[in-house]
Amino acid sequence: MAKNESKILIFGGTGYIGSYMVKASIKLGHPTYVFSRPDSDKTELLNDFQSMGAIIVKGRLEEIDKLVSLLKEVDVVISVLAYPQVLDQLNIIKAIKIAGNIKRFLPSDFGVEEDRVSVLPPFEAFLEKKKKIRRAIEKENIPYTFVSANCLGAYFVNYLLRPYDKEKQEITVYGTGEAKAVLNYEEDIGVYTIKVATDPRALNRVVIYRPETNIISQLELISLWEKKTGKMFNKVHVPEEEIVTLSQSLPDPDNIPVSILHSVFVEGVTMNFDLGEDDIEASALYPDLKFTTVDELLDIFLHDDPPKPYNAAFE
Ligand SMILES: NC(=O)c1ccc[n+]([C@@H]2O[C@H](COP(=O)([O-])OP(=O)(O)OC[C@H]3O[C@@H](n4cnc5c(N)ncnc54)[C@H](OP(=O)(O)O)[C@@H]3O)[C@@H](O)[C@H]2O)c1
Repeated sequence: MAKNESKILIFGGTGYIGSYMVKASIKLGHPTYVFSRPDSDKTELLNDFQSMGAIIVKGRLEEIDKLVSLLKEVDVVISVLAYPQVLDQLNIIKAIKIAGNIKRFLPSDFGVEEDRVSVLPPFEAFLEKKKKIRRAIEKENIPYTFVSANCLGAYFVNYLLRPYDKEKQEITVYGTGEAKAVLNYEEDIGVYTIKVATDPRALNRVVIYRPETNIISQLELISLWEKKTGKMFNKVHVPEEEIVTLSQSLPDPDNIPVSILHSVFVEGVTMNFDLGEDDIEASALYPDLKFTTVDELLDIFLHDDPPKPYNAAFE
């Protein structure tokens, strides 16, 4: 087998970010396996994956023996399971340990760099679960790459700008709107993740997706969108104190999304720590690849069939 044709198994491949990973893995020529529950309602997508060449494996995360025999067939494991299933990844870790052949495991991180940020308590509790998985992987000496993909770009363009609502005159701005955030298009996150998953330079390392062209504040994003659409929006600011109060008063798990908005768009946690010489930043790794810029991402929203809005699961 050529060295870039590792067999890749993806957990959560039918999900919001998972489907981009599956398509990227197939596109980059990897034999691609998608693990999906027997009662998954994503039949049409699974059929599409199968027609693209993916191998669909039905099963449950609790079926350790089944996981072990499946793992023995592959080289690399990527988990893009949703937040409520983060701790279920302990089953995958257990099976990887037993199988003993996995060359790389990428757990379901794909957000802020959880080991380097300080955030509001509900978001901290969310990140604690992801950190617990990182620590378990390290403890078991499983070869890993931890990916900090920062904001999923189309997800947050839909959330912040609501481009699908043509009547909307108002845009909500969290805090002053001046903090910088990193927005990366999901298609690129898929491709870069498959690249780093098989890249020896990313073995046992954290890779941060922070391309220069994708760093933007809410106010800059709105102004760019106004230029592209020729429309002016009424900016309604939600003061920081109000967001903090909501994070304290809303019941769990509704307190998580407001805490994320605060951390990312008020505190600026995707940008408020410097990358040093020892850090791996994805856009520097592959001279032949480039991230879609935020400017280009907004153009995608002007075409027919733009990325659809999606709400991540918190329970
Ligand atoms: N940085 C960001 O901006 C951002 C935004 C959103 C999400 N994320 C992160 O990205 C990762 C993936 O999130 P996502 O929103 O893409 O996931 P998702 O679409 O909600 O779910 C992924 C897949 O998980 C499987 N699944 C659902 N419920 C399950 C259950 N009870 N047991 C086992 N499997 C189950 C489903 O696959 P089957 O139906 O095929 O079994 C589903 O398609 C998470 O770590 C999340 O925190 C980051």
